[in-house]
Formats: sequence, C-alpha cells, structure tokens
Amino acid sequence: MIILGIESSCDETAAAVVEDRTRILSSVVASQVDVHHRYGGVVPELASRMHVEAIIPVVDEAIQKAGISLDQINGVAATRGPGLIGALLVGFSFAKAFAHARNLPLAGVNHLEAHIYSLFLMDDPPALPLITLVVSGGHTNIYYVASKTQFELMGQTRDDAAGEAFDKVSKMLDLGYPGGPVIEKLARTASPNIQFPRSLLEKNSFDFSFSGLKSAVARFIHEQKISSPKDKARVAASFQAAVIDVLGTKLIQAAQARNCPRIGISGGVSANQTFAQALRERAGKEGIRVFAPPASLCGDNAAMIAARGSVMIEQGDLCIHEHDVFSRNKI
Ligand code: KG4
Ligand code: ZN
Repeated sequence: MIILGIESSCDETAAAVVEDRTRILSSVVASQVDVHHRYGGVVPELASRMHVEAIIPVVDEAIQKAGISLDQINGVAATRGPGLIGALLVGFSFAKAFAHARNLPLAGVNHLEAHIYSLFLMDDPPALPLITLVVSGGHTNIYYVASKTQFELMGQTRDDAAGEAFDKVSKMLDLGYPGGPVIEKLARTASPNIQFPRSLLEKNSFDFSFSGLKSAVARFIHEQKISSPKDKARVAASFQAAVIDVLGTKLIQAAQARNCPRIGISGGVSANQTFAQALRERAGKEGIRVFAPPASLCGDNAAMIAARGSVMIEQGDLCIHEHDVFSRNKI
C-alpha cells in the first residue's frame, strides 16, 4: 500500500511517499527557517502564506522522486494537529481536496503520534512496549506506548517545551533562530561549569518545567554581563547540560516505573547528539536501550505522517469531509 504524507503544522512544508507502512520512497522537506530567522521565531501568518506557495511543488517533487504515478497512490495522510491553525489548514485542505478528487481514503494524523512513528521508520526499530519522549519546539511529552495505537501520556511540560527553551536562550545570547543546533554546536567548545537549576518537580511526577531554568539563564546573562563568544559558549553548555540532565532523569525514572527496557526519543530536540549520547550512557548503566531516529527523521517531516497514516488507513480510522484541524494536543 502506497501512502502520500503531508505535513504543514509549523514552519516546514513536507511531503513523502511511504510504501507498506515503513519503506520511504521519497521525503521532501521545504524549510521556511531562513524567512523566520529574520524575526527570531516563527511568524504564523508568514508560515501560512509560504505553505500555500510550497505545497504543490513539494508534493510534485515527492511523487517524482518516489518514481510513482498518481494512480499508484492508495491513500493520503495529513497532519490534522496540533500546530498553527493557519499552517495546518493549508496541508490538510490540500490533502482533503486531493483525496476527494482521486477518491482515496484520508487519515488526519496527530503530529505527536507521528513523531513517535519516526522511531518505527528506523532500520532497527524499537520493540514495544516503549517509553518515549516527544521533544520539540512545542512539546516535551513522555508516553508509554503499549502498542502502535495506544499512547499513554505519562508526563508533559507545565510551561515551556525543551525546544522552546533552547530557542529562547539562543535569542538571549543573540544566536538566532532556531536555537537548538547553534547552542549544541557552541556548547561543544566549552565546559558546562555554571550550575543552573534542575527542576524535577514532585518525586513521582513525570512532568517537566523549564521556565525556572530559562529565568536563571536570563538573570545570569544580565548580572554577569555575558557578551564574549567564550562566555556565551559556557552559558550554552551549562544550559544544555541542565536540560539533558532533567530529560534523562525523568526518562529513566519512567522506564523503571514501568519496568521497560527501552527508551525512544524523537522530535526536533532529539537531533541533539550530545543529548542522545548522554542518555545512551546513562540508560546503558541501568540496562536500558535508547532509540533515536536519524537526523532526517527527528525534525518535522512527512514520512512519519505517512507512516502513522498508513496504520490509520489500514484500520479504517479515516477522516470525513467535516473533520477540521486542531491547534492543541489531543493525546
Ligand atoms: O519537531 P520540530 O522540528 O518542530 C516542532 O514540532 O516543534 O522541533 C523544532 C525544535 C526547535 O525548538 C529547535 O530549536 C529544536 O527543535 N532543535 C534542537 C536541535 N535541533 C532542533 N534542539 C536542541 N538541539 C538540536 N540539535
Ligand atoms: Zn514536530
């Protein structure tokens, strides 16, 4: 079965063709980062307009690169939410129209479930059950994944998402948007010798809070008048170490609470190799194996949408014409 996947929830317009649930025939991502970079973050109205411009060329390219004809597509999967409403509407409306015109089934995919499915697209995918973290610009959620359709939310951030904290600290240090990759790179050049707070909340909670850390970094930058590249690197390394520490602690606690020997990480922040490496080392000592998708599948992409949608279509979990997009998470 060949599924066309479409993603437009934030600042990437993406299309992909996936065969038999997990074989990626093509995956095209058109990033708008260069445009939003100028404003220090994603401007929703601009994002919607750029999705409108990109959607048809991106879908065309995905179909061409897959080497298939339109007639070979058996179903369409598009992100329905959560995300920016205007941005979601472009991809979802396109998918609705495409499916309607060609009389194909349409799956309305939850973007967070799709991030979890990026793990199933790996060459060596994790078995289930799995403790997994979706860590991106908008979410920091820990799930217990019992089966490919059962996602139990164990914990989430009570304020900022981890990726959002990376972006905000990057802005404070004048390093630009998106912050994650720049901070990771800069952090490699310094040692994390500033002790920023680690908020672990209540003992049995798997929730996160990053706003205290963010404020502590802001205060430090202001009070110590941080401006030289060397000092910025120390702040970046110390901030990143605090985030990695908290994410790792909660993930290992969650795995131990459920007696689960596997942890997955996905979403934009999971591209951070310092994080993945540190988590592997820590989890390894506890006999827990860590799974992280390759960089091309960490950030927003449509292959993960098609993968999740394939299972929905197989199970008859389909969208009807009246279904609309949603901005806030539902799982
Ligand atoms: O999953 P994603 O592409 O989009 C959302 O669904 O939000 O995640 C984007 C987020 C941004 O906040 C970005 O700064 C962060 O992922 N990110 C990183 C890295 N690469 C991207 N954070 C830390 N380290 C990275 N290497
Ligand atoms: Zn995402």
